[in-house]
Amino acid sequence: MIPREIIDEIVYRSDIEQVIGSYVTLKRAGSNCNGRCPFHSEKTPSFTVFPATRSFYCFGCGAGGDVITFTMRIENLDYIEAVKLLAARAGISIPEDRNDIKENNGVSRKRVQEMNLCAARFFRDCLKDQKYGAEGLRYLTEKRELSMATINHFGLGFAPDNFWALSNHMTSLGFTEDELVAAFLCGKSKKSGKLFDMYRNRVIFPIIDTTGNVIGFGGRVMDNSEPKYLNTNDTPAFKKRQNLFALNFAKKYAEERLILCEGYMDVIALHAAGFENAVATLGTAITPDQARIMAKYTKQVVICYDSDKAGLAADDKAIRLLSEVGIEARVLKVTGAKDPDEYIKKYGADNFRRLLGDTKGSFDYKLEKLITGRDISLPDEKIKISNDVCFMIADVNSSVERDIYVRRASELLGTTAEAMRSDVERIRKKKLRDFKNRQSSEAQMSLKNIGDRVNVDAAKNIRANSTEEGILGLMLMYEEFRSKAADGFEGLCADDFVTEFGRRVFEAMLELERSECGFSKAMLGQSFTPDEMGRIEKIELSRRNLAKNDTEVFSNFISGLKKEKSSNDDDNDPFAELMRLRAAVQKNKENKNI
Ligand code: GTP
Ligand code: MN
Repeated sequence: MIPREIIDEIVYRSDIEQVIGSYVTLKRAGSNCNGRCPFHSEKTPSFTVFPATRSFYCFGCGAGGDVITFTMRIENLDYIEAVKLLAARAGISIPEDRNDIKENNGVSRKRVQEMNLCAARFFRDCLKDQKYGAEGLRYLTEKRELSMATINHFGLGFAPDNFWALSNHMTSLGFTEDELVAAFLCGKSKKSGKLFDMYRNRVIFPIIDTTGNVIGFGGRVMDNSEPKYLNTNDTPAFKKRQNLFALNFAKKYAEERLILCEGYMDVIALHAAGFENAVATLGTAITPDQARIMAKYTKQVVICYDSDKAGLAADDKAIRLLSEVGIEARVLKVTGAKDPDEYIKKYGADNFRRLLGDTKGSFDYKLEKLITGRDISLPDEKIKISNDVCFMIADVNSSVERDIYVRRASELLGTTAEAMRSDVERIRKKKLRDFKNRQSSEAQMSLKNIGDRVNVDAAKNIRANSTEEGILGLMLMYEEFRSKAADGFEGLCADDFVTEFGRRVFEAMLELERSECGFSKAMLGQSFTPDEMGRIEKIELSRRNLAKNDTEVFSNFISGLKKEKSSNDDDNDPFAELMRLRAAVQKNKENKNI
């Protein structure tokens, strides 16, 4: 068996959009992609790729799963063959020495990490060096007001104002020119062919991954020259879209929440002020990969972007990407400062803590955004805004929440709550009607699926099956529910499951969860067929589209399933009913024969 970490890495490093895109023409639709399903013939595209969760699903034929399942189906391979094919594509060798991964110019990831570690030490020593680093140290301690403790904690450094300082040092350690270029530590002059340092006269921020490897650097100028930051390009050891600055520290404090900022300096200032759960993206807007990574560590992210226009625009994207992976996104806006770093310097940690206790949920944030900048004193404008707001509130499922929002919104808009409430309910009724119409056509579809080949028991246990799918969906989405289930939370056990398929999925997940290497969705592919993986994907997908995914829901599903199971004895089972009828008829016949 191929070890889990390798399977995970293959799934992680195979860009699903790219892999599927090489077989299917995909069109972007928001954060997903659509195309015509390669597994059944169709005119309208119902095949969807979800880069955020690295999965795909066809709403037409039910094919779905991860990049391995896709490859199995499209290339007609078994699990191991598909894994090998993807590994070859991604340049991962299995299962021999993983350190042998050969990538760009034949320079391995491990080698780049070695170089980075040496370079980080060199930069650090330069910062402390009277002759080379005095200006850098002055910049960090005086201009940026960092303590030596903070400088040491983050391993900050300084790249001297010299074209060959690092180059000479690194070649003396035995690294070759090609290796140094592949690591983005050095460049090669086109003219002379001579090696030169990439980072010069900059303070250096090492980027460290969650296992402690130095994977890249950010270097900042000390004046207003451009570019302000020079960041490591993608190298065999570093993908900026798949890493977060300071997650190596923040992961230990992430249980309650993570704080997501824009810049290195914001994160450093926050950590120094005691907010050690802060991370930053690396000079890009947040990516689906980064959202997924955060979801591994926390359930809530406070978005703390700069207070300028760009920061405001970035909030929406962050809210969307985080919500898509099941994270509760909240927004914190600092006022009177351009970013968290400046805010803490000006107003101190206690004031920031106060802001942190007073963040806006994504709803309030969107509401405020709808209103600000528009003139509610104009009747026409007010009607338009109110209509937009009502549409937004109509989507909220809990009536208690709707009520709260209506009251808040009507207060903000200066309308009566009654009028707004009736508008919301009217819109909601219409939305529900539309939804029901859609549902009933879906119900007809599922009637056709009476001969469900994947879950043969589902058709005659509709309620139990949907409860099971709720439980499994939550477990697929969140580690928390897997570990609860593994601990027998509320007595949940395999015997509670009514359908054979549900039971198998539950058992397979628990087995992985309890194993030494832990659960990984990609590993399920070893025990389930591609058709079954498609169903598992659908179970998770339907769950992910729902807002409420907490312990209360989980616990309701469990008690629901237990009830379902106990009432699922003879008198509720249509087949048992049939058997009884048969027996009665038989008896009747026998009686007659006598
Ligand atoms: P200062 O407080 O000005 O030192 O920076 P900051 O950490 O607050 O960063 P800022 O908000 O200006 O930018 C956010 C992030 O974007 C930075 O931390 C960098 O990762 C990245 N960034 C900023 N400027 C540049 C640039 O010129 N080039 C590149 N590649 N990235 C940049
Ligand atoms: Mn700043």
